[in-house]
Amino acid sequence: MAKPTGPELMERIVALCKRRGFIYPASDIYGGINGFWDYGPLGVQLKNNLRDAWWRDMVECPPIGPDGQPLQIVGLDSSIIQNPRAWEASGHVGGFNDPMVDCRESKRRYRADHLMVYQPASGPGFAFMEGELDDVHRKMKKAKVDPESCTVVELIQLDTSTYANIIGPHVKHPGSLTEPRQFNLMFKTYVGATSTEDDLAYLRPETAQGIFLNYKNVLDTSRVQVPFGIAQIGKAFRNEVTPRNFIFRSREFEQMEMEFFCHPDDAVTWFNYWAQARLEWWKAQGVSADNLCLRQHDQDELSHYAKEGAGTVDIEYKWPFSGGGFGELEGVAHRSNFDLTQHQTFSKTKLEYFNPQTRERFLPHVIEPAAGLTRGALLLLCEAYDVDENRPSPELMRFKPSLAPIKLGIFPLTRKDGLPEIATKLYMRLRQKYICQYDAKQSIGKRYARMDEAGTPFCATIDHETSETGQVTIRYRDTGAQERIAMDQLDSFLAEKLA
Ligand code: GAP
Repeated sequence: MAKPTGPELMERIVALCKRRGFIYPASDIYGGINGFWDYGPLGVQLKNNLRDAWWRDMVECPPIGPDGQPLQIVGLDSSIIQNPRAWEASGHVGGFNDPMVDCRESKRRYRADHLMVYQPASGPGFAFMEGELDDVHRKMKKAKVDPESCTVVELIQLDTSTYANIIGPHVKHPGSLTEPRQFNLMFKTYVGATSTEDDLAYLRPETAQGIFLNYKNVLDTSRVQVPFGIAQIGKAFRNEVTPRNFIFRSREFEQMEMEFFCHPDDAVTWFNYWAQARLEWWKAQGVSADNLCLRQHDQDELSHYAKEGAGTVDIEYKWPFSGGGFGELEGVAHRSNFDLTQHQTFSKTKLEYFNPQTRERFLPHVIEPAAGLTRGALLLLCEAYDVDENRPSPELMRFKPSLAPIKLGIFPLTRKDGLPEIATKLYMRLRQKYICQYDAKQSIGKRYARMDEAGTPFCATIDHETSETGQVTIRYRDTGAQERIAMDQLDSFLAEKLA
């Protein structure tokens, strides 16, 4: 079995995730619910490891700044539901919209800005979802239209009068697509017993606003001075028009965001600093540099808050579903003082910073590295998935050891001759420091295969020589190589490999 690419690779990853307990469709036994996912035993551990790595490198041990000193970044955990006025101030009630298009024939709904159109010199155009080329190519082949002879345009760029001559992605005849309508992505809920419009509230569509709402609290109660950052990890909710590509675009997901408050004159320098620092951070998580790139947003893609600043740069990854191209992993935005100005105006609370040295008062500008934690977990899964045709069970997950859900498999070679007792003793010692899995079931080959699929970087096998020599066989996931190691050196072996 060779390693597939594109949609087939994605299918394999999704299947492995379900089979091995990384990720399941939410409400699976009821047929699922579109855009929602549950993280199983291995998935939640992988996601938590990524979360902890980000928190450690942002909050507990922040990067060193350009002046050689550690940056000041503090943590926060704010509520998912805030005063609804906060979302009016932030611009989300008025402006957090996606254009959507309906298909009158198939009854499907699409993000208008995700639809592309093959336009032949004459005859109807063929609309398709970005990256989903197979279906449209099949349809065009039947209609004897060569994709090479067409121009490819974004549907949203076309005049709506031309829609009558465009065939939707899931139908055969032109003219079924409606004009784009703006659709607000925020989930609504009610706070209190009456459930009237007076009690209307929103589930946060980004964790960032909780940071702006607490900016003054943090300034007044901790010893930070500009420049400083506030970091937060948590759930965000968006009623996405077309959730898709597994957990890539979900309706409930997690973000890891940091707002870095700085002097307006230094904002561009910090913007460039954070774009580079975040790219390097993803590489340090074991992601190949070839699969990552930085992409500056075009003016027409900018979010409402980034328009005032120097823009947004995306850190992009070569996803299996991005048709050989790249797609967003994390955004680094120059939000200027947009949010603080808005909250200052709406709440009538002074949010200016006073610099005691220069006696200057100003609203700080904000640079925001905003990553998806769940999207980051998908990246780790895509990056780790591999096929080694020389193994009886060829699929394996090559996670960076420190991020792997299980660090060490501990196996007694047989279930007799005192081997399980030695293995259990080793397991009871190491489990206090590292996530280990004891496994005595089936052949050693099957146990290795289970650990390969879980992405466990090392396995220790206790055999008949162990009681005499005190040594176990360590087997490396990536190469299958084996070596003998003294049991009492396993702590330092793991400490070194997981550092
Ligand atoms: N506070 C800025 C902000 O929220 P964003 O680009 O909309 O910016 C930041 O989101 C990151 O959150 C994205 O780069 C992506 O990793 C993740 N993200 C956004 N929408 C998502 C969704 N529907 N599903 C999964 N992850 C999402």
